[in-house]
Amino acid sequence: MQDFIYRNPVQIIFGRGKAAETGDAVSKLGKSALLVFGKESIKSTGLYGRIHQSLAAAGVRAADHGGVKPNPLISHVREGIAKVRAEKLAVVLAVGGGSTMDAAKAIAAGATVDYDPWLFFTEGKRPGGALPVVTIPTLAATGSEMNGNAVLADSVSGLKLGMFSPHCYPAVSILDPELTLTVPKEQTVNGIVDTFSHIMEPYFGGRETDAPVQDRLAEGLMLALFETANRLAQNPQDYRGRADMLWASTVALCGIVQAGRGPAGWENHMLAHSIGALTDAAHGACLAVVMPGWMSYASLTKPEKFDQFAERVIGVKGAQNGVVQLKMLFSQLGAPVTLGQLGLKEQDIPRIADNVLKSVPGGGSLGPAGVEAVLKLCL
Ligand code: NZQ
Ligand code: ZN
Repeated sequence: MQDFIYRNPVQIIFGRGKAAETGDAVSKLGKSALLVFGKESIKSTGLYGRIHQSLAAAGVRAADHGGVKPNPLISHVREGIAKVRAEKLAVVLAVGGGSTMDAAKAIAAGATVDYDPWLFFTEGKRPGGALPVVTIPTLAATGSEMNGNAVLADSVSGLKLGMFSPHCYPAVSILDPELTLTVPKEQTVNGIVDTFSHIMEPYFGGRETDAPVQDRLAEGLMLALFETANRLAQNPQDYRGRADMLWASTVALCGIVQAGRGPAGWENHMLAHSIGALTDAAHGACLAVVMPGWMSYASLTKPEKFDQFAERVIGVKGAQNGVVQLKMLFSQLGAPVTLGQLGLKEQDIPRIADNVLKSVPGGGSLGPAGVEAVLKLCL
């Protein structure tokens, strides 16, 4: 176990119907809020009206900033910052998936600086503060509700990049599993795959290999995640399954799983973000394609850990068998598992690799040759 400091300041309010407490939670932080949301789900589910009612009842003045798209854009964040400034808003409230929560964090931080917020992502500039953020995830996937990360895309450069700031942790996140009952099958599966990736990247990629508590924590979470995936495949309306899924996705990227591992390379996210920026495919779908390819590649140099994964999590012997079974599991759940299923061909690999190298100079721990090799294994 390597040394680490762990601090997570997010207050979690978890439970059925807890979205009704939105107004109360926001009003403790300020009397006005920018309500950030996605394209249409918040309205078609009726949540939009309930959130506004709750805010109004608590005396919170609210301005809308809807239209966040999957692979959220920095241009839309800039518009949100302008609204915060024009309307002198005190809190940023996100109601939606990871894209909405990430956009809200960038708005909250961007409103406090006098430079373009894209520099957080491209030049590592860091805000000295941020407006308080409240998140209400409506989709279980990214864990954004309990971390300080934001991932945004720029349509001009074609890049999709991440940032972390301790000021971007939400002050409060309301986790109401009922809000996720309407998530369609495809997005539910994307969330399962993304959650898996957040556990598996540090499990395989962290520098510390001798960390039995962290290994068992990760393996237990992966097993519970697969059980939950089966449960939701049989009945998407199962409350307990949705509740387990929401908590699993939150725990997976709140830092507990990663602690003591040392830095991980996050190679799968590096590749998936570039594929997402180029194709606009969903984050989870890109990961489902990339992970089996990367695992096949990485298992050649670290076979013991992949053997352990195969045996303890998948229940088969041998690293390669474990990867094959995992790919089959993703496929059975309905996730794409080849670049072809995302509309990409072998001729596209140099273009993807080029974008990866532009986003992460040198292609991170994979290096340029490794990036191409993994992409070829994803065909
Ligand atoms: O836009 P609306 O109409 O709301 O529809 C959304 C969207 O089309 C829909 N949706 C959300 N809640 C729903 C619902 N549909 C029906 N019922 C509901 N209750 O789902 C679609 C996808 O939404 P999105 O927010 O894009 O999905 P997700 O939560 O998977 O977020 C993905 C984004 O998060 C980033 C990804 O790169 C990607 O941009 N990530 C953020 C991370 C973080 N902050 O820590 C880490 C992750 O690794 C990831 O990179
Ligand atoms: Zn992810």
